[in-house]
Amino acid sequence: MTPSRTPLRTRLRTLLTGAAATATTATLLLAAPATAADPPLRDLATTKAKVIGTAVTGSKLTATYGDLAGTQFNSLTPGNAMKWESVEPTRGTYNWTEADQIVAFAQAHNQQVRGHTLVWHNQNPAWLTNGTWTPAQLGTLLQDHITTEVTRYKGKLAAWDVVNEPFNEDGTYRPTIWSDNLGTDYIAKALTWARAADPTAKLYVNDYNVEGVNAKSTALYNLVKSLKERGIPIDGVGLQAHLILGQYPSSLQQNIQRFADLGVDVAITELDIRMQLPSTDAKLTQQAVDYKAVVDACVAVTRCVGVTVWGFTDSDSWVPDVFDGYGAATPYTENFTPKPAYYAIAQSFGGTPSAEGCAATYSVPSQWNTGFTGQVTITCSPGRSLSSWKVSWTYGAGQRVTQAWNATCAQAGASVTCVNASYNGTVPSGGSVSFGFNGTWSGNNPVPTVTLG
Ligand code: G3I
Repeated sequence: MTPSRTPLRTRLRTLLTGAAATATTATLLLAAPATAADPPLRDLATTKAKVIGTAVTGSKLTATYGDLAGTQFNSLTPGNAMKWESVEPTRGTYNWTEADQIVAFAQAHNQQVRGHTLVWHNQNPAWLTNGTWTPAQLGTLLQDHITTEVTRYKGKLAAWDVVNEPFNEDGTYRPTIWSDNLGTDYIAKALTWARAADPTAKLYVNDYNVEGVNAKSTALYNLVKSLKERGIPIDGVGLQAHLILGQYPSSLQQNIQRFADLGVDVAITELDIRMQLPSTDAKLTQQAVDYKAVVDACVAVTRCVGVTVWGFTDSDSWVPDVFDGYGAATPYTENFTPKPAYYAIAQSFGGTPSAEGCAATYSVPSQWNTGFTGQVTITCSPGRSLSSWKVSWTYGAGQRVTQAWNATCAQAGASVTCVNASYNGTVPSGGSVSFGFNGTWSGNNPVPTVTLG
């Protein structure tokens, strides 16, 4: 279960408010580091009529991994368990153990499942790829595979990635065991067989490097258009979105929209944003910006059904195995600490930017007969960041702020509220931002308790 933070927050407030009366510097922590936003991502996504999913490994669905997978996400995609080599490692001998486990977990947690994937050039069983087959035999094998697997999960899956990665980067069809032997119409056949086996699952074609408008996504667009014109069952396109830090495709929303305008759904199916290791606060902050841009683009288009991350923790990511020196691509650290990217996703779905893990410190660097200079520093611990901030306090001895810099401050009675200037709203993970002000005092000049948020 997601731990409730309210009692701790209250305790901290009480403790720190008491201590502040005698301290020369007052800091109000809003909460200890948390493992989740309040409310969880799946609840936020639901308010936007979107799903938030994650790829999962069945054997890991216990303890913290299982807890987070079940509470934060409302859609699961088996990362490997439904691929052909997983379900039929030996011809005619099926192993549904992990796939069944994931489907059962999803049902127990009121989650959707995206089936992944029926027709691909990777992760096919050796008996298939090493065999010698006529095109007719391959067609029968593929039809049987699709029919068997889709029938097994009939009525239980929200969607299937029926065909995975059919295109080259230049938009030509990828030469594979399927296109080489069955021609490119293997795609139409696969979709038709899948629909026959489960009329309710949404049927997708899924690919990578098709997030922005480019030759490959235009090829996908033309394929979908032609399938629709021919009456072939196609319900959606999956944009995998294996992205690189700072390389968010600016035409993502436009691309999603053009598919929506064709009359199909769009899903971001495998989002991760890799960076060169080691990760730094600056990179994590950039990653949060990139994650937010992707989720924002989906939220902006009605037919974008949602976003699935390709593993929610860095300990379950394919990236370090494949891209030497790269990693930290998911929204949680290996130790299940949410990163700025996690909070960015929450914010895209309408969550309030969280000030948790950040603190404001009030100090008086100089003071003279009737005046003083004050300073407030906002600091975020590693893994936390802010994109805007507001600090407020109440003076207890008649002090007045007369002039502020690096913030806009207003005082009403004893209450002072300061918000960031246009240029310093971002407090990076592990970093800080300060602003200053001059004020007047008489009698005494006690340090107030400041609130961030
Ligand atoms: O299961 C064996 C294990 O027995 C063995 O000890 C171990 C040794 O390396 O390998 C394990 O298999 C690995 C398998 O993942 C399960 O962990 C394979 O080597 C490894 O190649 C395989 O990688 C998967 C990859 O697809 C294969 O192409 C990743 O986990 C999976 O996340 C990734 O997912 C794909 C999507 O399906 C399609 N889009 C791209 C995405 C990322 O590559």
